[in-house]
Amino acid sequence: MKISLRCLYLVLCFSISTQLTFSQNPVKKIGKITGVTINNQELDIRTENASVKVTAYSPGIIRVRVDKQQLAEDFSYAVISKPQVTKVSITQNDAEINMITDSLKVNIRKNPWQITFLTPAGEVINQDEPGLTTSWVSESVTTYKKMQDGEHFIGLGEKTGGLDRKGNAYTNWNSDVFGYSAGQDPLYSTIPFYIGVHHNVQYGLFFDNTYQSDFNFGASNNRFSSFGAKGGEMNYYFIYNSHLRDIITSYTWLTGRIKMPPLWSLGYQQNRYSYYPDTEVYRIANTLREKKIPADGITLDIHYMDKYKVFTWDKSRFPDPPAMTKKLKDMGFKVTLIVDPGVKEEKGYGVYDRGVKEDIFAKYPDSTYYTGQVWPGWCHFPDFTSAKGRNWWANEMKVYAGDGVSGIWNDMNEFSTWGQKAPDNILFNYEGKGASHMQIHNVYGLEMIRSSYEGYRAALGGNKRPFVLTRSGYAGLQRYAALWTGDNRAEDSHMLAGIRLMNSLGLSGVPYTGMDVGGFTGGASPYLYARWMQIGAFNPYMRNHTQINTKSSEPWAYGEEVLEITRNYINLRYKLLPYLYSTFYEAKESGQPVMRSLAIDYTHDENVYNGTYENEYMFGHAFLVFPFDSQTQIERMYFPAGKWYDLYNGTIQQGNAHVKTELGMSKLPVFVRESSIIPMQSLVQTTAERPTDTLTIHVYQGAVNNKFVYYEDDGESYNYEKGDFYKRNITYNAAKKEIAFGKVEGTANSKFSNIKLVLHGFSGSTFKFNGKNSKVRDDLSALMVPISRFDPTGLSNPVEGEKVKIMSIKNSTELFTVAY
Ligand code: NOJ
Repeated sequence: MKISLRCLYLVLCFSISTQLTFSQNPVKKIGKITGVTINNQELDIRTENASVKVTAYSPGIIRVRVDKQQLAEDFSYAVISKPQVTKVSITQNDAEINMITDSLKVNIRKNPWQITFLTPAGEVINQDEPGLTTSWVSESVTTYKKMQDGEHFIGLGEKTGGLDRKGNAYTNWNSDVFGYSAGQDPLYSTIPFYIGVHHNVQYGLFFDNTYQSDFNFGASNNRFSSFGAKGGEMNYYFIYNSHLRDIITSYTWLTGRIKMPPLWSLGYQQNRYSYYPDTEVYRIANTLREKKIPADGITLDIHYMDKYKVFTWDKSRFPDPPAMTKKLKDMGFKVTLIVDPGVKEEKGYGVYDRGVKEDIFAKYPDSTYYTGQVWPGWCHFPDFTSAKGRNWWANEMKVYAGDGVSGIWNDMNEFSTWGQKAPDNILFNYEGKGASHMQIHNVYGLEMIRSSYEGYRAALGGNKRPFVLTRSGYAGLQRYAALWTGDNRAEDSHMLAGIRLMNSLGLSGVPYTGMDVGGFTGGASPYLYARWMQIGAFNPYMRNHTQINTKSSEPWAYGEEVLEITRNYINLRYKLLPYLYSTFYEAKESGQPVMRSLAIDYTHDENVYNGTYENEYMFGHAFLVFPFDSQTQIERMYFPAGKWYDLYNGTIQQGNAHVKTELGMSKLPVFVRESSIIPMQSLVQTTAERPTDTLTIHVYQGAVNNKFVYYEDDGESYNYEKGDFYKRNITYNAAKKEIAFGKVEGTANSKFSNIKLVLHGFSGSTFKFNGKNSKVRDDLSALMVPISRFDPTGLSNPVEGEKVKIMSIKNSTELFTVAY
């Protein structure tokens, strides 16, 4: 007893002395609220140590800004939407403030400050950790949130690790990470947006701060999750919706969505570091055609340039670029060129001279240009945070448009320099406000691709879609470019890590993603290569690429069997282009990714977060892809609720089931979700080739209703923005067993003049087609319906004589041929 009293005494002394020692407390907390002003849907709050603004940005989005000083002028490179006029009720008393919208409630305790977000029914979605809330250590600001029981954390953009980020911490500092390990952090891009899931609720949190930022999802303990940055404001958007997919829609309302990509960019892209000279490029193009591997793109890496100098050609290797691109175009190929931001410091090199003349390079505080070393040697770096810098870049790009180049691949834009240590004190224009490298580093890549997108679009005449690819970026990058995941390794773990990177990017508003299929460094085994190419066919951007001095990585480099398998899956991708293009349209409209983590549709199914199943994903709404590695013979698959059809033989698998499967090289396990609607076309070798005039629509019988928005446009211009597209809803009503085609919208003609409807799992039953009873027939001599866009009712009222070709199939082998 004596001892424990003594202990208590010591503990008390220690805590008192701790308090005393910390009278100069290095942690400055936000403190209690000392004043509140209500301005319509906004609260201006003064606390002991900070200025705060809480804005109802929309019914489901609340923005919170906190700074030690007065809040600075509002500015963001990521957010493109202004606050929506929102109905809000705000009340307060001595203890708290309550802000209520139609979608959520915000409760702010006054002493000390603590913000809590609740559902309209009063369930806690997210709240400040009461003892820690928001605080500063020097210039670093952090907000601590109470960890909820069983909380999962997903998203955060291009981050390695599991689907569920719980127990881990991450840093955002865009980095050039050649041959990164499958668990490395940070990588090339920063998207400070994550989604929390617990107790049947889900929320999004976007921390819009471009300084180096850190996220901690319970890596320290279960008390809190936190996010903070080395400088700038605490500035976050809290998003609540009753479905996870709507959180992505809200987040992409804030930060923007893709435009329709050029159709050709969805075809297979053949890369290598580097194809040269031009005769080698022709050899690759010819071989793709000879071996009947559908392909649309050939990408030229740094060796096309004169001594790696951007906006030049090595004329001994590529004597006549316009003639080359023309010849390739005639074969159905588009050319994409790599560009790096570093501009060689060399008098007499026009690009450099004009850059100096226009004074667009980033500088030290003593007004001398910053110099760093990259491929061409010592370089200056354009300041893309000024309109002048972006315009200069845009102007220089014109040369490539004249050369017939269709795509711009932005590399090294973290920005990368040898040694990687660009100093903090490089100064950037930052739209006239001035900022240090510390503040703009993470948006350098974003502003480069903004300039590349806008510049190249203008260079192509304004109405032609450029394809823009990037390695680095920040939240909102989806507005300008597709992103690929950089220098991976030819290893199984990397193939799977790439899947998770893309799934995470999809959760974070970036739907157009790809990875170096086959692996960048090292060499794959034939089995790994075959598996990777199969998975690549189910990636939004399908690019095969490999490093300099590695074994060739074209589809024929691994022997006949692998070639056959690869061709099969690329063929399937090409046949699926109508489905894929419509899925991109959905991404454009609502921000939904093309590769969808199961967390999107099965948010509260715990199996989804289980490490055994975390790589499974949906490719669009229909395909459940199981990306297993090449090392295992037997694997476990998890089927979420519902009914699933084996893509290859139509066998039905009931959901909520864990199933073992045997694997082989020739087949990637893929299943189709019940009630799916999948439009397909005939096989083409390039998107420049017209498919046959029949669009085949596969419908899989199921117990749930479905709606597929079928979308077409010219695939290359922006005329769709003026209504020049062809769109119609195809619906499946499970209870009525009815398939219906809605009215045609848009002014364009479809490229198909017939529809063939293929029904899966309907055998022996009757169904309705556009309100009329039909019988499923197994005979293939069935009828055809021409699609007439001049008939405003389209197929909803087939007239006498019009014919629908309807066939049911017992197995799908005919459609998805497997060679072995
Ligand atoms: C780094 C890129 O990540 C890689 O894809 C490219 O091949 C090399 N730079 C050379 O340009």
